Amino acid sequence: MDHVVIHGKKFVKYISAESIDDRVKQMAQEIKTTIDLNEYIMVILLNGAFVFASDLFRKFNQDVETKFIKISSYHDFESSGKIEFNKNALTEIEGKKILIIEDIIDTGNTLHEFIQYLFESKVVDVKICSLLLKPGKLNHAIQPDYLGFSISDLFVVGYGLDFNERGRGLKDIYTLSDE
Ligand code: IMP
Ligand code: MG
Repeated sequence: MDHVVIHGKKFVKYISAESIDDRVKQMAQEIKTTIDLNEYIMVILLNGAFVFASDLFRKFNQDVETKFIKISSYHDFESSGKIEFNKNALTEIEGKKILIIEDIIDTGNTLHEFIQYLFESKVVDVKICSLLLKPGKLNHAIQPDYLGFSISDLFVVGYGLDFNERGRGLKDIYTLSDE
């Protein structure tokens, strides 16, 4: 499938399922060899990161502590700049080390605010693992510790990422076509 139409917009294939799988395998290896996963709580940012996290975790193939946090900020093609999440899902993190699992960093607004909240909650370390990063759109000095792919300033869907709640089930990543 070289293209899909979602909500009337055409998206073309951008990163293949095979490349994603290879990269996720490498990332899992890199994470396991640089930090002790037993010392970290994996915080998975929903909704977008659920597919990435499920592949990454099976490649870890070990016992890890997890928390799932639903963060929202995006409407249509633009980040709204304001984040919302349920703080009750993040109790007992004082003194803990956190590995954030994110699908994509765009403006960086979401992670910037979220990381600020984590440090206010007295965590001792935060590491960031993101499948994708759009360096051209970044508004904050955020450098993922583990990154899958740097991409251009393009809107992407698939592999968990959505366009107004559609497209998450595609195994490849697609980008908005200019046609
Ligand atoms: P940021 O706050 O601008 O960094 O945006 C972060 C969130 O917006 C990500 O976690 C995604 O859920 C969503 N997002 C950013 N760019 C895209 C995209 O190209 N496609 C789908 N969702 C995106
Ligand atoms: Mg996300």
